[in-house]
Amino acid sequence: MTETRQSIHGQWSSRWAFILAATGSAVGLGNIWKFPYITGENGGGAFVLIYLLCIAVVGIPVMMSEIMLGRRGKQSPIHTMRTLAQEERGSSSWQIVGWSGVLAGFLILSFYSVIAGWALSYVVSAVSGSFSGISADQSSDLFGSLVSNPTVQLSWHTLFMVMTMFVVARGVRDGLEKAIRLLMPALLVLLLILVGYAMNSGGFMQGFHFLFDADFSKVTTEGVLTALGHAFFTLSLGMGAIMVYGAYLPDDVSITRVAFTVAIADTAVALLAGMAIFPIVFANGLEPGAGPGLIFQTLPVAFGAMPGGIIFGTLFFLLLVFAAWSSAISIIEPVVAWLVEDRGWSRKRASISAGGVTWVLGIATILSFNVWSEVKWFDKTIFDLLDYLTANIMLPLGGLLIALFAGWVMNQNHSRGELGMEEGLYQRWLLLIRYVTPVAIGLVFLNAIDLI
Ligand code: PFF
Repeated sequence: MTETRQSIHGQWSSRWAFILAATGSAVGLGNIWKFPYITGENGGGAFVLIYLLCIAVVGIPVMMSEIMLGRRGKQSPIHTMRTLAQEERGSSSWQIVGWSGVLAGFLILSFYSVIAGWALSYVVSAVSGSFSGISADQSSDLFGSLVSNPTVQLSWHTLFMVMTMFVVARGVRDGLEKAIRLLMPALLVLLLILVGYAMNSGGFMQGFHFLFDADFSKVTTEGVLTALGHAFFTLSLGMGAIMVYGAYLPDDVSITRVAFTVAIADTAVALLAGMAIFPIVFANGLEPGAGPGLIFQTLPVAFGAMPGGIIFGTLFFLLLVFAAWSSAISIIEPVVAWLVEDRGWSRKRASISAGGVTWVLGIATILSFNVWSEVKWFDKTIFDLLDYLTANIMLPLGGLLIALFAGWVMNQNHSRGELGMEEGLYQRWLLLIRYVTPVAIGLVFLNAIDLI
């Protein structure tokens, strides 16, 4: 019975601790680095609108389901799915959700850490004044010299992995909770300062129109898949990260409230990042579709020109590192929790092993920006492939299975009890999770593989 089940990994100290941790997981490179550049690549407003729709009709219901399953199972996603499937007399194959999450976790963290390494290196560039008076071309060169250098990137990737595994090894309360408390609010303040700067940059209206005027002729079927995939990526859904955080959630906390809070905070940060970046892009004649280097090429130009730019630039990239850090620990937590439960390893041993594997995998991403930049499948580099495979395929598929399990396999008395909301709302969640979410994911997939 769930009443007697307990997490062996510990518990969050309060509702706020969970909200901070889950927001820490959700808000990361996905919001500040990825959202602007995929919006730029997919033509702006219409893409943003589809992404917001995906958050509302797919993201939030799946987030509620993941937290619910996690809290009921109280173990790593693999064991949670096994236990719950048994309890609901479902097939033991539902464990696949946990396994694919473990695989996705390794793959995502392997490139996530490399990009976080870029942010670390930009902290140093910012402190040392490299941005002062920098032109758009010089800024592109600065970025180019970083990504063309494998050894430098490897050092930063190594540092970031060590930081991540250090926190993960310390466990739920000491490690995860403490690291996040101050950093989220600080990041928000800095983003607001940047938006304030962008408002006066001369490109604000153009940036604003780019982000919010919907021209659907610019959206491709692949763009729709990218928007759906990003809704999962940015909310940390579809791979068990939020599920495992849910496993540490005290039983008396309202799942609906925390899910909405996290989703709204995450979306606000992404939109603010867009409002900070696009005006600067347009004011400086930069290219919105510049790809993964977008923020690294645009923001230094702004910091280089503004008063106090050294301080703001340093703080910004430092906070970006922290945002990435609090996400990274959640990406690997499902794996670590599973190793502790299944193998009886200490958290330290589990963290070092999982981190070691991820570190090695990260080397492929580093090389894909230089030595292996011509190694391509389906016209995609290794980095592009990893990103596509995880965000656009594995996470939505994981989310689909979670929706099917929560909506169709789980006894409604169980889900009703766990979610603990009033009946009208519960029925709405059920409608979304049983029909709307699976059909939406299914249609986007079919569309993307050109079946309809
Ligand atoms: N949500 C994080 C971001 O937007 O940067 C990335 C992420 C974290 C993806 C945890 C998946 C995950 F499980």
